[in-house]
Amino acid sequence: MCFRSFQLFWLAAVVGLVSCTQLGLRHASLNTTRPENAAMPAIAATSLSEWEAGKPALRAQFAEYVYGTWPEGLAVTIGETRIADANYLDGRGVLEETEITLGRGAGARRFMLAMALPNLPEGAPPAPIIIGQTFSDNCLVFRSTALHRRVGEPCEKARTGGFGGWALIQILGRYIARAPIDRYFDRGVAYANFYASEIVPDRPRAGAEVMAALRQQPGITASSALSFWGYGYSAAIDLLERDGRIDTTRIGIWGHSRHGKSALVAAAWDDRIGLVMAHQSGFGGSALSRSKTGERIDRVAQTYPHWFTPAFQDFAKAPGNLPLDQHQLLALLAPRPVFLGNGRRDVWSDPNSTYRAAQAASVVYGLYGSDGLAQTGLRDFNPAADLSFHMRAGAHGTTPEDVAALFAFLDAHWGL
Ligand code: GCU
Repeated sequence: MCFRSFQLFWLAAVVGLVSCTQLGLRHASLNTTRPENAAMPAIAATSLSEWEAGKPALRAQFAEYVYGTWPEGLAVTIGETRIADANYLDGRGVLEETEITLGRGAGARRFMLAMALPNLPEGAPPAPIIIGQTFSDNCLVFRSTALHRRVGEPCEKARTGGFGGWALIQILGRYIARAPIDRYFDRGVAYANFYASEIVPDRPRAGAEVMAALRQQPGITASSALSFWGYGYSAAIDLLERDGRIDTTRIGIWGHSRHGKSALVAAAWDDRIGLVMAHQSGFGGSALSRSKTGERIDRVAQTYPHWFTPAFQDFAKAPGNLPLDQHQLLALLAPRPVFLGNGRRDVWSDPNSTYRAAQAASVVYGLYGSDGLAQTGLRDFNPAADLSFHMRAGAHGTTPEDVAALFAFLDAHWGL
């Protein structure tokens, strides 16, 4: 017993130390002016019409080399919406869930979309909404056992309990597994969420098998987990568009890390997405593939092959051969507001090249009359800018400081 306590003490001490350093010892460089680091290829369009005309070809290149084909046309079937909790958050709103099916027959995938809608005063306009895609199931995200963790599986627990849960939060932040619903409600904003692994499991072999089956669906050729997860946002929007309580002119999406990558992919293909919050999305997201700092694309391609189209592997060791880079993905989002969250010690996701990607994408924002990135450096957060780069101290995870920054961004853009 004594030995066990002793072990636990040391485990707690190590985790505590790790959490103080937040797992990162190095700092992202603040220097973004070295000419050899400029994003390549430079964006050539000099007029809005030229840029708009080139967008389909650019999307096709991203499909061919990075993400596979966007699963355009994959059937979306929306089930009955069930009220899970009519008095959610001490009666501040309602919690609902709906089963969504992607595709038909064998190989179709089903997932649960949960939505928390604040009570709106009589005659109030419809609510703007953020859709999140997460590592955790809806039970943890909404802290409610009234939902299902997966299709057909009711929630068993609504909190990350015990020592493991405590350690997870110390290392990855309070909001790694839950959403700040009360803060959304304070602003009259609804929040919907789905668990990405219900669409495509986040494991190389299991993910590849599910995607092979999805490719049997009519019109679906090649795709990747990032694209199919991204398509989850679009399927959610199909549902929300039929819901008169939602303001479909103000639909934003949120994703952390790998889900930040898929949020960027979704917005590049789906124009109904009006605002994006991509947090620490790193390589295959907002970091430049040519960057030599942090994870790099050779490592992400090798460890997570299912996230990408197989052709991406060809560039893993020679990113300079890629005919495009991620600043062009950000440019496909213009002129929509994009929040890029970063941690100074999260060098793995490469804040420095994310900043340079945003700088380079600003050319396209400029064609729409927007400043794009409008800050003097990585630490000069400007929540009102259309390309808004935030960097806090610390490493990977979603902390209260990140949440404060994303609400500053949301308030500025949606006038909340
Ligand atoms: C790994 C991976 C990253 C990814 C991250 C995450 O660290 O290497 O590319 O962004 O997981 O999703 O948390």
